[in-house]
Amino acid sequence: MSELNNIALKILSNGKGILAADESTGTMTKRLDAVKVPSTAENRLLFRETLFSSSSMSNCIGGVILYDETIKQETSKKDKITELISKMGSIPGIKVDSGAKTLAGSPNEKITEGLDGLRERLKEYHNLGARFTKWRGVYSISRSYPSKLSIYSNAHALARYSALVQESNMVPIVEPEILMDGEHSAKECYEKTSEVIKKCFEELILHNVDLKGIILKPNMILAGNKCKDQIPNEEVAKLTLRCLKNSVPSEVPGVAFLSGGQTETQATENLNLINKYNDSNFILSYSYGRALQQSALKFWAKDINNIEDTQKVFNHRAKMNTLAAQGKWSKELEI
Ligand code: G3H
Repeated sequence: MSELNNIALKILSNGKGILAADESTGTMTKRLDAVKVPSTAENRLLFRETLFSSSSMSNCIGGVILYDETIKQETSKKDKITELISKMGSIPGIKVDSGAKTLAGSPNEKITEGLDGLRERLKEYHNLGARFTKWRGVYSISRSYPSKLSIYSNAHALARYSALVQESNMVPIVEPEILMDGEHSAKECYEKTSEVIKKCFEELILHNVDLKGIILKPNMILAGNKCKDQIPNEEVAKLTLRCLKNSVPSEVPGVAFLSGGQTETQATENLNLINKYNDSNFILSYSYGRALQQSALKFWAKDINNIEDTQKVFNHRAKMNTLAAQGKWSKELEI
């Protein structure tokens, strides 16, 4: 087994998933503003250190995606953040793209940037302890979008990024995210997600990326949040599985879904059903940001020094998702 395949499998073993704590300072500031906590570097670190030292880090959270600011911070005990994560039994990762910018040639769409100087930054992150990385391409659905241009150019960037990451001995998370925002139907989401994922793999193969050493981070197949015809969760699960089986090569060891604006329980319930119906060889787990952190953040904001009880809230959510990643979750287990 290759070293990269080993890392990918370790991150997603036994129902473990990924904590996406890689919000940029701007996004984290929005999250903290919403719960009325000042967005200082100390507070951003305090919340994240609270999560990273929770007991669920050893049995539920296989990997943590960090942001550039966090990976360079020290814990309150003066350890490196990556050392804390490793000591807790998880694997540190890092978001390496520099965000989605206006796509020249199709200005209503986005292209993710960050390839310039990436080889050097990867070396630095590896030295800091990162063993996997994330890059997110973002697409919206409407009558004429996503365009071929956005599908092609984001797939190309994801592939160039992945090749550089593997060259640096880290596992790339390949994240093509079709946004939930909009009036589109689940059928349109299914068709566009399939097209986007297939293009990504075409480019990954062209760039000689070892598919056994990546993790795919896609959206689930959902109707847009403004669509009148929402589909039942069972249908979400079946369509998501069909889409993955038809567009993801079998060498890929694991898929870790993003939550994309679903509520915490919706994201857990859908993941559980996906695993109940899973008749593929893929490991199907989670790489959630909001759906893992929302309740913990709200609870913590009431008293930012109440570490222990905040950790209980986070541990519960992590446990629910780890059960869901094994198809063992049920509503009664929620508090
Ligand atoms: O890139 C997106 C994040 O890593 C996942 O965040 O679960 O809140 O959509 P989310």
